Amino acid sequence: MSTGHRSGYWRNTMTNREMNNNRKLLIVGLACVDIVNVAAGYPTEDTDQRLLDQQVNRGGNATNTSVVLSQLGSHVEWLGTLASDKLADVITDDLENYGVLYDKARQYENCVTPLSCVIVNASTGSRTILHKNKALPEVDPKDFEKLDLDDYSWIHFEGRNEVNIEKMIAMIEMYNKSRTDSKPITISLEAEKSRNVTHSLLQKGDFVFISKDYSMYMGFNSADECLNGVKERNLLKIGAKAICAWGEKGAWGLEESDRIVHSPAFPPIKVVDTLGAGDTFNAGVLHALNQGRTVEEAVRLGCQVAGQKVGQIGFNIDTTSLDLL
Ligand code: FRU
Repeated sequence: MSTGHRSGYWRNTMTNREMNNNRKLLIVGLACVDIVNVAAGYPTEDTDQRLLDQQVNRGGNATNTSVVLSQLGSHVEWLGTLASDKLADVITDDLENYGVLYDKARQYENCVTPLSCVIVNASTGSRTILHKNKALPEVDPKDFEKLDLDDYSWIHFEGRNEVNIEKMIAMIEMYNKSRTDSKPITISLEAEKSRNVTHSLLQKGDFVFISKDYSMYMGFNSADECLNGVKERNLLKIGAKAICAWGEKGAWGLEESDRIVHSPAFPPIKVVDTLGAGDTFNAGVLHALNQGRTVEEAVRLGCQVAGQKVGQIGFNIDTTSLDLL
C-alpha cells in the first residue's frame, strides 16, 4: 500500500472540523443483522460444507458507513429504524462500541430485525447476500422532523425509500434557505441499486455516489464514461459533484470545475471479504469532503480505506495505515 503524501497533505483537519463547529454528519438508511458465513469456496447446491468462520454482525449500508466514519474521526449519527427484538441489540451494541449516535432512530414494537445471510468466499472475497426485511418500516419524514437541523453539517442518504427521501430532502432545502450564515447542510446520496433510485432522485444531491451496477444500469461501461454521461445528460443538480467507484480499477470523481479525477485502488495482498466495501469507500469520501477536502483527496481516501477493508473480515479500520489522515 502506498505511503506517499503523509505530511502536508491532510494537516489542518481540526481547523476544518472547528469551522463546522463540530456539527454532525448524519447517515440515513438501513441497519440489519448479517450472518456472515466465511466459506473456503462457493458452495455447490445441495451439499454440506464446513465453514472457515461464522459471525453474527451488524450490517446495512448506512450503519456500515457510520462505523467506519466514526473510526476515521467524524462526529457521526445514524438515523434509521429498529425492531424491538433481541437481534436489534446486535445493531445497537455495535453502534455504541464504535461511538455512533442513534438516539433519534425509531424503535418499532412487534417487528423483526431485517436479516441477511451472507456467503463470503474467502478464496475470491466475493460476497453473496440473501436479504429479507419482513416488514420493518423505513425512516419516515416524521422521524426527520424530530431532528434539530442546526446540529448537522452534512446529511447522507442511502438510496432506498425514495418517496420519503425526497420529502426529507425538501425539509433540508427549506432549512438551508432559512440559514443566513452561509453554512448550509450538504446533501449526498447513494445510487447503488437500480430498483431503489430513479433519475429524479439523482438531481437532489450536492454529491452523488454512483455505483458500478447503477452506472451499468444507466448504460455506461466505465466510471469516467458515467461521470461525463451524467453531466452531459444533465442528470445532476447544477453544480453537483459525483463519485463513481469501479472495483479494482479505483474510483473517479467529478470536481467542481467539471474536471474528472481518478484514484487507483489500493488492493490488499489478498482480497478476503468485499461485504460492505462500497459502504466503506463512501465513508472515506464523506469524511474527507465533510472536512473540506477536494474531490481528488476524497476519492483517494475512499480507495485507501476500502482497500484495507477488503483485506479483512469486518469493519475495524487501522487508521495509522491511511496516509491521508
Ligand atoms: C453491504 C450490506 C450488508 C447488508 C446488505 C443489505 O453493503 O449493507 O451489510 O446485509 O448490504 O443490502
